[in-house]
Amino acid sequence: AAYWALIPAAGVGRRMNADRPKQFLTLGRRTVLAHTLSIFLRHPRIRGVVLVLGSGIDPDALDLPEAGGRLFQVTGGAERADSVHNGLAFLAQRADADDWVLVHDAARPCLPAADLDRLLQALSSDPVGGLLAAPSTDTLKLSDAAGRVERTLDRSRVWRALTPQMFRLGVLREALAAAAAAGVAVTDEASAVELLGRQPRLIEGSPVNIKITRPEDLEIAHLYLSRQDR
Ligand code: CTP
Ligand code: MG
Repeated sequence: AAYWALIPAAGVGRRMNADRPKQFLTLGRRTVLAHTLSIFLRHPRIRGVVLVLGSGIDPDALDLPEAGGRLFQVTGGAERADSVHNGLAFLAQRADADDWVLVHDAARPCLPAADLDRLLQALSSDPVGGLLAAPSTDTLKLSDAAGRVERTLDRSRVWRALTPQMFRLGVLREALAAAAAAGVAVTDEASAVELLGRQPRLIEGSPVNIKITRPEDLEIAHLYLSRQDR
């Protein structure tokens, strides 16, 4: 089976509140998106990268890395799940149902190459697939409707879902279709797969793999990238 990357980059970045979507902001010498794409384009086991862009975006105006024909562009949709759906529909025309797809947020440019390697290694013969995740360092409270603590979660079992999330193309398409049919709004691929009654595997990833969301995250990402010498 081949490995593909699917990068949803069709969001508007409302919480970043900048003059353009956050994936097009500059981080060091390049854009956030260029950093993210380079991680996958440099990896020898990734056959191709599907980049999902907002409908008004001109790809020629973007700082895209040299891809040697391995980068494909697709138009996204209103929600992240719609953007991923469009990317999967494109892949269905050129990939096999049992090929692996790694869905990774454009807004996570600090993914360490070692984490990507570990994910591929850990899951390549897994029956379900899984995702990078980081153990929670905070104690987590579950609230009731009135904003009071209903209970405290067992921190040793709580993980924060990161990306990439790695599943077979056929499973992902089935899972997203099932979530849409059930009217469930999923915010990651693993939740959709869980709705099929399967249990994605958690692979521990580094907490430096942040999702740039608010303005201060850009400074943190800049620090992490400079440590990785990128
Ligand atoms: N995304 C997408 N299509 C959408 C919404 C989001 O491809 N309709 C992508 C974003 O570009 C981002 C990733 O999904 O790479 C994670 O989403 P998020 O961090 O929420 O980004 P935005 O939706 O752009 O930000 P915000 O929610 O603050 O508006
Ligand atoms: Mg969003």
